Amino acid sequence: MDLLQWLERTFGVIQPHRDFLKRPLPPRVGYAYCLGGVALCAALLSALTGMLLSLYYVPSAREAYQSVVLIHQELRLGWLVRSTHKWSGNVLIVFILLHTIRVVVSRAYRPPRELNWVAGALSFLVVLAMGFTGYLLPWDQRAYWATVVGTSMASTVPVVGESLVYLLRGGDEVGGVTLIRFYSLHVLWLPLMLLLLLWAHFHMVKRLGIAAEL
Ligand code: HEM
Repeated sequence: MDLLQWLERTFGVIQPHRDFLKRPLPPRVGYAYCLGGVALCAALLSALTGMLLSLYYVPSAREAYQSVVLIHQELRLGWLVRSTHKWSGNVLIVFILLHTIRVVVSRAYRPPRELNWVAGALSFLVVLAMGFTGYLLPWDQRAYWATVVGTSMASTVPVVGESLVYLLRGGDEVGGVTLIRFYSLHVLWLPLMLLLLLWAHFHMVKRLGIAAEL
């Protein structure tokens, strides 16, 4: 018995996926149905480049800026990894929007896929939150003031607004604690949430199949 067979006997994940890939698609499925897949590729690319950046990035108010300069200017291909991370995040947002338009146009949000719409919408919110938290990490003037303005918007929430701003910033002002908080959200909390939501999203796509008729 070779290694793959032995693993398959234990995990049993290959055969169900083979069967899934052989399932026929409904008619009219075309390029527009690949938009979610492109979004997934962009998400994977940003995860990979993010993991590479985390090898050198230092999430402290003293060293964050210098560590980004080091990555961008001194490390071999560091500029490419950093730029790819930034652009794959933007591409991800564009393709999520295009994918959502496809789902709306083909009315795939209707039952029995309503929960998959909810899982998708929540993933979009998490992706936006990843963009917002990531923007602070270079710790330069633009990042700092964007976060001051962005977090202050939370104060417009009725009743809990001020407490929300305090919670987001980890204090009255944007500072070192905010940087660590945003870093933790960006690399740990939000990616874990996204992973769970996307697992649910794909599980439902597999179970329910692609919506057939308009
Ligand atoms: C990171 C974000 C997302 C990724 C990677 C993703 C990925 C995918 C993929 C690969 C599919 C299979 C069919 C296709 O590609 O069109 C799909 C289906 C679906 N997605 Fe998403 N999606 C995301 C966000 C969203 C959002 C924001 C919504 C709506 C608010 C949504 C709603 C749906 C629905 C309802 C289906 C089932 C469509 C059908 O059966 O025809 N997704 N998604």
